[in-house]
Amino acid sequence: MSDSFKALVARKEETLSCSYETLTLDDLDAGDVTVAVDYSTLNFKDGLAITGAAPIAQKHPLVLGIDYSGTVTESAHANFAPGDRVVMNGYGASEYLHGGYAERARVSGEFLVKLPESISNAQAMAIGTAGYTAMLSVMGLQANGPAPGDGPILVTGAAGGVGTVAITLLADLGYEVVASTGRANESDFLMSLGATGILDRAELSERGKPLQKELWAGVVDCVGSHTLANAIAQTRYDGVVTACGLAQGADLPATVMPFILRNVRLQGVDSVQAPMARRLVAWERLAKELDINKLEALSFDLHFSEVLSRAPDILAGKIRGRAVVDLSR
Ligand SMILES: NC(=O)c1ccc[n+]([C@@H]2O[C@H](COP(=O)([O-])OP(=O)(O)OC[C@H]3O[C@@H](n4cnc5c(N)ncnc54)[C@H](OP(=O)(O)O)[C@@H]3O)[C@@H](O)[C@H]2O)c1
Repeated sequence: MSDSFKALVARKEETLSCSYETLTLDDLDAGDVTVAVDYSTLNFKDGLAITGAAPIAQKHPLVLGIDYSGTVTESAHANFAPGDRVVMNGYGASEYLHGGYAERARVSGEFLVKLPESISNAQAMAIGTAGYTAMLSVMGLQANGPAPGDGPILVTGAAGGVGTVAITLLADLGYEVVASTGRANESDFLMSLGATGILDRAELSERGKPLQKELWAGVVDCVGSHTLANAIAQTRYDGVVTACGLAQGADLPATVMPFILRNVRLQGVDSVQAPMARRLVAWERLAKELDINKLEALSFDLHFSEVLSRAPDILAGKIRGRAVVDLSR
């Protein structure tokens, strides 16, 4: 590959603008590992960054893209050598470090995870930050939380990237899963992933009572706001609710009643600064537990050249599952 390469770059003068540019290695961050990026993804957070709907990029100009997989081309880091296949999620990519929407990346080896043998570079991004966050959510739910057979687990934002992988993982672990979605036309797809029930998201999206009928042994929430408040209010005694997202809103209009009367636990999920030990467990578990064959149903290919035009779609909830961005196209 020549020294110059294509990248999707955000610049800010008075307003934010994003466009495809040609960069060279000199434009990248300092770092001890250089990666030929094969795949990235289009996540909700990428949609926010590209459209400027939320101030994700903290420096300009900045290569966007919160995650990527690729092959090491140069390394001065003891843990990595040319040819190693790696994945990068978070750690400030697309915020204050250049991200994955470029054919090359340079980064500290401390931020990279070597991919398990059984996960290809394309599959790593079919999983992507969303799938890895889904696994972190499952791990948060399972830590002193409900076991399979203890009762139904509610997954909100079910047809999105985190939701679809969370349903797959939980169902394959033996949990009964109820999928909350606004897309009734995706019901068959969600059932094919392992959901045994569908709940119209409208039933959770308005202000509700502080304590409601106890329905869920656990919840994986991707949505926040009233949806999360209602899910907490419907969680059974000793249940666990994980919160990773804000697709409905960043507010949490809830009361303490489910916590002090039902011993409900609210577990935050952060993928960006998750410690390396937790990341390694998550990727190892994904390699063992995620049915890779289902990834094809969960993901679709997006050309790099389409990322800019499709970014508003993910914010509008028009993208199903995982968009895998092929940097070569
Ligand atoms: N904490 C972390 O480290 C971390 C990591 C990754 C993602 N996230 C966050 O997690 C959330 C999900 O990410 P994702 O990649 O799965 O995004 P996504 O693919 O866009 O999915 C979000 C889903 O939320 C639902 N939704 C959208 N707007 C809604 C609204 N107004 N009210 C209720 N539900 C709504 C939709 O599901 P239905 O169509 O099924 O209704 C949509 O598919 C996002 O907020 C993202 O920023 C956080």
